[in-house]
Amino acid sequence: MCGIVGYVGHRDVTELLLEGLRRLEYRGYDSAGIAVQHGAEISIRKKAGRVHELGKLVEANPVAGTAGIGHTRWATHGETTDINSHPHVGGNGEVVIVHNGVVENYTTLRAQLQQRGYVFRTATDTEVIAHLIAHQLSEQLKLGSDPERPDTYVTAVLAALAQCKGTYGLAILFRDAPNLLIGARLGSPLVVGVGQGEFFLASDPSPLVGYTDEVVYLSDHELVVLTPAGMELRHRDSGSLTPSIQTIEQTPADIELGDFEHYMLKEIFEQPTTLENAMRGRLDDDEATAKFGGLNMEPQQLRRIDRIVLTACGTSWHAALVGEYLLEEFARIPTEVEYASELRYRNPPLTDTTMIFAITQSGETADTLAAMRECKRKGHPTLAICNVVGSTIAREADGGIYLHAGPEIGVASTKAFTSQVTVLTMLALYLGRMRHLSYPAGHRIIQQLREIPQKVAQALESFETVRKIASKYASYDNFLYLGRLYNFPVALEGALKLKEISYIHAEGYPAAEMKHGPIALVDPNTPSVFIVPRGGIYPKVMSNLEEVRARGGPVIAVACEGDDEVADMADDVLFVPEVDEFLQPLVTVIPLQLLAYQIALLRGCNVDRPRNLAKSVTVE
Ligand code: AGP
Repeated sequence: MCGIVGYVGHRDVTELLLEGLRRLEYRGYDSAGIAVQHGAEISIRKKAGRVHELGKLVEANPVAGTAGIGHTRWATHGETTDINSHPHVGGNGEVVIVHNGVVENYTTLRAQLQQRGYVFRTATDTEVIAHLIAHQLSEQLKLGSDPERPDTYVTAVLAALAQCKGTYGLAILFRDAPNLLIGARLGSPLVVGVGQGEFFLASDPSPLVGYTDEVVYLSDHELVVLTPAGMELRHRDSGSLTPSIQTIEQTPADIELGDFEHYMLKEIFEQPTTLENAMRGRLDDDEATAKFGGLNMEPQQLRRIDRIVLTACGTSWHAALVGEYLLEEFARIPTEVEYASELRYRNPPLTDTTMIFAITQSGETADTLAAMRECKRKGHPTLAICNVVGSTIAREADGGIYLHAGPEIGVASTKAFTSQVTVLTMLALYLGRMRHLSYPAGHRIIQQLREIPQKVAQALESFETVRKIASKYASYDNFLYLGRLYNFPVALEGALKLKEISYIHAEGYPAAEMKHGPIALVDPNTPSVFIVPRGGIYPKVMSNLEEVRARGGPVIAVACEGDDEVADMADDVLFVPEVDEFLQPLVTVIPLQLLAYQIALLRGCNVDRPRNLAKSVTVE
């Protein structure tokens, strides 16, 4: 998704903008650009390609100033070309903007503006906004509005945005108003960084880390007016607002690579720590239950819940599927998992004792946000399990549980998945202990949860073994991933990891489902990854494994340490520590994350920024 940065203050803005764009690269993009203002002159440098190449362009054509905006573009309208890159210019250069979002009625507006004589230089919808603002500004000036007053520009921006249908996160500069920066938000995230005599704009807090830890998250229809002298927050309809200043938890270490080659690898290895963070202060030994500070729901209200819907996308959907098994096993509450993009339109029959959980790492996924809003509109209590503090879903939910996993920068979600599963385990414990789950049973779950970070650390010791196995299988073009019960969602997750960063076709299935079609795919060129830790259904999965071997299919097994039977049967084995079945996803997913990482490396793929993908899918 597109990334936005903006600044107004006393610093030389050029390098600050470029560094901000580097920190937003993980969102996924195909071109980048900056605009720097010095007095009544705004200089633009932009091109298709990586931020690194933009840096070279700026080096060859330096620009300096103390106000500026920057953008990484994930193309929605218009090809990936230098001219279609942001920033875009309105009128004859009196307005310069960067935009994250979609203008759904841009063709109509474009025609109207062309009739008024505006000349379009690009194929983007964003340029329509730039010319609209320029037109409204000229109208204001014709009416005698004072070009020295920020209000003149605010009025022009609001009048222009009122004509746009769709979504936007905007940062706007004005040639004739040096040191004025306006931000506006509808549907695409935008956060203000609050400094001393300086202010920042960004799509998420990562560009602000190290400059300020005080932020204001804009909500829909809000607009912020920034000058070195101060900040004014407004709502489109109700006018001035008092900003709610929050503190971001991120530190520079959170967003730096450290000794790792890629963010994905760093985040895989952070999991023992992030799981401790997810559990910190939430396990109650005295009551043998879990406790959460942000559910905002009374126990009586929670006790009356007789159905749960978990809604999410992608990896978060896989975590939700583990959650379904956990909630039904430990809380005995009927639970279903819905793809958010389906739930928002499917209109299932939900009762007033149905509770909705939106599960999302970024808190900005458009489909998940829309599904949650649809459930809220119907009056259902909607909670969020989310990683990004202050994100849209976190703020709009009626309550929720943060993962505290720290920024997840690699596009392929890893530590968020295990933290989501851990939170869902604690939620099942909490709701179960409100119902029939006994004190000893609750106490046992707590004990086992406490051991998980160490078990995950042990699973990470398979790093070298995975690297060797990856070299054996990196050239294959089709994989099957198979598991049962709690490991069925892990099969789906393992397949998704491989697909999204190595571009290999991989499918996850319940292991028994093989017989109903997929086994036709088995041949010596199609490796099957079996997740087959010890447990009640171990013999069944082993028989599925044998069915594949009997047809010449190569088998990679994820099994418990010391399981010689699997070692004899499979071509290759990745061992994980033994844990109770309901906790197996937290350890069996680890070698699959590493396998996808290693195979992608061997195939020369961009592990942190895989093609076509974005970290946060804020378009529908
Ligand atoms: C997972 O590796 C992918 N990056 C993607 O499926 C992701 O999980 C999905 O887009 C949901 O994102 P969210 O958790 O931020 O809502």
